[in-house]
Amino acid sequence: MTRDLEEAHLLEADDPRDAGRRRVLTRIGWAGLSMLAVASVPALFRFLRPRAWRDRGETVELGPLEEYRTSTVSARWVQRHGLWLVRRAGRLVALEARCTHLGCTPRWMGEQGGFLCPCHGSRFSDDGIPLNGPATQPLFRLAIRVEHGEVVVDRSVRAALERAERDRRFYVSI
Ligand code: FES
Repeated sequence: MTRDLEEAHLLEADDPRDAGRRRVLTRIGWAGLSMLAVASVPALFRFLRPRAWRDRGETVELGPLEEYRTSTVSARWVQRHGLWLVRRAGRLVALEARCTHLGCTPRWMGEQGGFLCPCHGSRFSDDGIPLNGPATQPLFRLAIRVEHGEVVVDRSVRAALERAERDRRFYVSI
């Protein structure tokens, strides 16, 4: 029985058309697997990379722009990145969470609609304008952009309010 199978196998192997078909099918199979592997690399990389990799030094990715369409002030990045995202008058801006008096971190007082500095009591409006001192300068704004639908803030580029209002690097339309 085994000998019959071996003979049948040898006969099959001897047929050059079968061998050619097998080679073609094998190549197609490998080509398909290779294309699948190449196509899945970006998705795999994105899935596996740690969240920390998204913090490229001073540039931070803060999630989809869509997430900020409904909130007025997002305080979720104060601890980690030292900034607030503020949506106002059709614009999204990044405010540096650093008091312009002596550098303490103000708190967002949601019910009062502004920021309060715990060190010496300066208050700022929700777009960072000082309402009472000792701080006299508005909170700084950070460069902000949208890349592939994600909000990206560069903490190394900042501007005072007056300049930031005119410079497209410091707001995105929303
Ligand atoms: S550091 Fe904020 S009021 Fe002085």
